[in-house]
Amino acid sequence: MIIAIDGPAGSGKSTIAKNTAHKLGFRYLDTGAMYRAIAVRARDLGIDFDDGEQLCVIACNEPIEFGFSDDEPLPSRVFIAQKEVTDEIRRPEIDKAVSPVSAHRSVRKALVDQQRKISQLGDYVVEGRDIGTVVFPDAPVKIFLTANAEERARRRTAQNLERDIDSSYEGVLQDLRARDQYDSSRAVSPLVAADDAVTLDSTMMTIDYVTNLIVELARQAQASE
Ligand code: DC
Repeated sequence: MIIAIDGPAGSGKSTIAKNTAHKLGFRYLDTGAMYRAIAVRARDLGIDFDDGEQLCVIACNEPIEFGFSDDEPLPSRVFIAQKEVTDEIRRPEIDKAVSPVSAHRSVRKALVDQQRKISQLGDYVVEGRDIGTVVFPDAPVKIFLTANAEERARRRTAQNLERDIDSSYEGVLQDLRARDQYDSSRAVSPLVAADDAVTLDSTMMTIDYVTNLIVELARQAQASE
């Protein structure tokens, strides 16, 4: 079974998707990390983020792999071209580069193919922007997670601090708004809720509350399978 969790940056998607996967014993796929890995690889090779053709060469030929840290039940390490990019993909310059990179149709096609292949391995919680609309339109559980921009910026700033990434609340808020605008208005697979998704606004909800709601929806879907 696939549980699709989509939503904008900072909506709590990653934490909630991981907790949900952990509670249900499902695997977990972070598709944003895949777009980020392409952006890191392009930067390292000196490829322009607007050069769809060259970006496609990377996305089509260099599969992205995930790995586990010693103490983690779910994979959080990311590799491309045999090189670990786990920390690099979270850097502020990659935050900025990843939206234009992910807007190329050819890059999306290559990564969607990879995402469908990976998820054949079993039950998965898959998080991203187009999981319920494009990657797995038949997923039995689809969640569209939102939160207001200020709350999302507060969460992302705190996360950056934990990761030792220098950032200011104002800068993060500005960047989130720019990315929301870019991701929601791009021509290919824009960030929108699927018609049959359950929309949850996490601004005033705890991580645990939202996780339990999704786990409940998944159990109901399992029972009716
Ligand atoms: O979830 P994230 O912030 O790590 O995602 C990084 C970027 O990748 C985001 O700006 C939009 C893009 N993305 C996408 O277009 N489609 C996905 N399924 C996942 C992420």
